[in-house]
Amino acid sequence: MKDLRIDSVKRKQKVKLTVNGRKINAYEGETVLAALIAAGYKTLKKNPVSEEPRGALCGMGVCFECTMAIDGVPNVRACMTEVQEGMNIEFDE
Ligand code: FES
Repeated sequence: MKDLRIDSVKRKQKVKLTVNGRKINAYEGETVLAALIAAGYKTLKKNPVSEEPRGALCGMGVCFECTMAIDGVPNVRACMTEVQEGMNIEFDE
């Protein structure tokens, strides 16, 4: 997957995350949600009844559509969590 970040933007230190077993790059100061979107992830969960794909909605901590397991802690909002080196992120794609 192509990195969707704008090349000309100056960024902080690069960090590595593991997303459902896959390694991706992120940068200090980014939220987990921003890193996932930049890596091309759109679906973060499925509707429990219809199983239709769902993604982040507000990006600012209100809707809870971006909840996922981060470092083993369930139901963490990806849009409110800054990336850290070695984070392990899991959700239903
Ligand atoms: S995208 Fe709405 S709470 Fe994270």
